[in-house]
Amino acid sequence: MAISPSIRLLGAAALAAALLPAHALAADIAKGREKADQVCAACHGKDGNTPIDPTYPRLAGQSADYLFQSLVDYKNESRKNAIMGGQAKSLTRAEMADLAAFYASLPGQLKYKPK
Ligand code: HEC
Repeated sequence: MAISPSIRLLGAAALAAALLPAHALAADIAKGREKADQVCAACHGKDGNTPIDPTYPRLAGQSADYLFQSLVDYKNESRKNAIMGGQAKSLTRAEMADLAAFYASLPGQLKYKPK
């Protein structure tokens, strides 16, 4: 029996939804800001641009996908860093998505400066 095109389409939609990163579905910038103010601002600065140490990265304006993936990687230790590993451990995927969306929404200061 042939599979009807509409059933096939449904299957494709379900697959696409399963493969989408969490933050592509629903990220809450306001919640991200709240968490960031409480926790992350201590090191990355309230504006995501004024880290307390020059070796700490600026998060403002970076891509949400990259920020989200970095947090996932710190949590599962595929990206190893003692400080951020500890920070990411307690974050849920939804919190990571909110935080990534918040920092991505801020004006970035990342510039390439040719010599
Ligand atoms: C105690 C200081 C500290 C706190 C608090 C902290 N971070 Fe970090 N963060 C760092 C350091 C140091 C690095 C660089 C780690 C590395 O080299 O991988 C970093 C890196 C990152 C990166 C990778 C950025 C890049 O450019 O690759 C992300 C994303 C990030 N932090 C998000 C957060 C979020 C979200 C929070 C709050 C839940 C947070 N950080 C709290 C110190 C901190």
